[in-house]
Amino acid sequence: MFVQSLLLAGFIICPLILRLFFPYLWTDFHYHTVLLRILLKFASRRRRRPLFLALDRFLEQVETRPNKPFIIFENKSYTFKDVDRESNRIANALRTASVLRPGDTAVLFMLNEPAFIFSWLALAKLGCACALLNSSIRARSLITSLIRCCSGVKLLIASAALQGAVEEVSEDLQKEGVKIFIMAEDLKSSCMKSLSRAMQESSDTAVPQMLRANVSFTSPAVYIYTSGTTGLPKAAVINETRLLAALAVLASNGVTDRDVIYVTLPLYHTAGFLIGFLGSVETGSTIVLRRKFSASQFWDECRSHKVTVIQYIGEVLRYLCNTPQRENDKVHSVRLAIGNGLRADVWREFLNRFGKIEVREFYASTEGNVGFVNYAGKIGAIGRVSFLHKKLFPYALIKYDTERDEPVRDSTGLCIEVPKGQTGLLVSKITEIAPFVGYAQNKQQTEKKRLRSVFKSGDVYFNSGDLMKIDNENFIYFQDRVGDTFRWKGENVATTEVSDIISMLDFVEEANVYGVQVPGHEGRIGMAAVKIRGGMEFDRCKMFNHVCSFLPAYAHPRFIRIQNSMEVTGTFKQLKLKLVQDGFDPTVTSESLYFLCERERMFVSLTSSIYEQILSGSIKL
Ligand SMILES: *[C@@H]1O[C@H](CO)[C@@H](O)[C@H](O)[C@H]1NC(C)=O
Ligand SMILES: *[C@@H]1O[C@H](CO)[C@@H](O)[C@H](O)[C@H]1NC(C)=O
Repeated sequence: MFVQSLLLAGFIICPLILRLFFPYLWTDFHYHTVLLRILLKFASRRRRRPLFLALDRFLEQVETRPNKPFIIFENKSYTFKDVDRESNRIANALRTASVLRPGDTAVLFMLNEPAFIFSWLALAKLGCACALLNSSIRARSLITSLIRCCSGVKLLIASAALQGAVEEVSEDLQKEGVKIFIMAEDLKSSCMKSLSRAMQESSDTAVPQMLRANVSFTSPAVYIYTSGTTGLPKAAVINETRLLAALAVLASNGVTDRDVIYVTLPLYHTAGFLIGFLGSVETGSTIVLRRKFSASQFWDECRSHKVTVIQYIGEVLRYLCNTPQRENDKVHSVRLAIGNGLRADVWREFLNRFGKIEVREFYASTEGNVGFVNYAGKIGAIGRVSFLHKKLFPYALIKYDTERDEPVRDSTGLCIEVPKGQTGLLVSKITEIAPFVGYAQNKQQTEKKRLRSVFKSGDVYFNSGDLMKIDNENFIYFQDRVGDTFRWKGENVATTEVSDIISMLDFVEEANVYGVQVPGHEGRIGMAAVKIRGGMEFDRCKMFNHVCSFLPAYAHPRFIRIQNSMEVTGTFKQLKLKLVQDGFDPTVTSESLYFLCERERMFVSLTSSIYEQILSGSIKL
């Protein structure tokens, strides 16, 4: 009897003690079990012959659930079978036109629409690789340089709405030997062909699998252009192995065939294509596809389509929090939000405002070789580190000199790992299972991302360019992008920290912080581009008092630039390069500039006279 009660007590107390000392034990265990199952599945798929590609997973779904809606777009619904047939039509039309051979590359220049997906599937069926072009680019030089980025381009497929943009560059394309197909019936130029008309005339029967016979796991499958803050976009090569791995992202985060996924991010980027689209191919779920993210229509659409999973990137959730409050804010069936770039304050506000939604913040880059997932819901963290993960993907946080913009090296020339709690640059060893393929036709940029002799002479790591910190509970936090910090008066200033502080002001809708050079000074001084909330005004005293009470002097934005709209990339990353180049010279821009004036204890208009005095040194900074 005594022993029994002891055991019973043990049973009750033991989990409590475990919970107390290892609060994430169960969560870790659960996540790793799911991960292991997925790894085993991946390994068994890799052994299948003939090769099992991402496309084959789609074909499996067509077999098992032909009549289930796969894509819902502008109130039209396409089942898995419909999508399969439409893509067959495109594939057959292209075969008839004999513009492509297996192994060629085609470019998709399309908006978010079902035809994007039909076209990609068609090209995959033909054994061709596909470059996904950002549909917002226009300049002729850009389009042509992007197309030259990956070799062997034979064909471009464009949306009807982008016909004008294609027309501008059609001559260059023809010179490059690229055939142009437009998803429209009325064409503006004789060098274009109508894909929609060709589709109507072609059969919807499957194309022979033989066409894909030469595709291997190392074949490039898609090229995705990454929009960095510096330089022109670079095409990251995603090969078939990577595509196969990408299938698992949503599944490993608990998405099943009962889910409805809202895809509002561009399909030409990683989030929309690899995670959203391929994720629903894997899980057999339904995609509600939207041409463009719209904060005002977001929740109504989620409600009307019973969306359960949403994707976010960068500022999406902040845009949602910025919409006017509504009574039905918490009425919806969204249970999971998955994405990256969510800041802690927005995270909290999002949950308060829209109710209990599980947020899975993860860290990964299109071309990188290491990723993290925050599966424990710890606000602000981008993931959890573990012994196992580090064993599989040997990464490290190394000491970084933000002023010289390079890793710190010891007397023997090797890098130095930072202890827990300190910020360091994330680097990840390039190995067989964590390869870094690099950028297409761009050796220089590729080499720039490789860091050599990190812990041993001659070893090679992928330089993520991201500064991170790991806490005592093994959560990892994103701190900043390298270059997103600047140094002033010998101190490091994290731009995100400053913009978080500025954004607390009620009249600030958005702030973009960066450092600008001042002749005669080391480092960079803080400057903020600020967008004022509609109907409100820039309060120059309040801004002064606010930054002075919340930020150390070296981190003060000494210059403020008021912008009516803030330029962002297709994935809502703020653009800084141009702003940095403009600096604080009032003659360079017509936008209002202000200067933090200590004497007047407020921000004053930055006149040419003040500008001259700063340059001559008669105003001390
Ligand atoms: C596959 O490669 C072989 C050898 O290079 C070639 O003869 C054959 O035509 C290719 N098949 C396809 C479908 O491209
Ligand atoms: C493609 O995938 C393989 C694994 O199958 C990998 O080892 C390789 O580095 C990747 N890249 C290229 C360009 O082949």
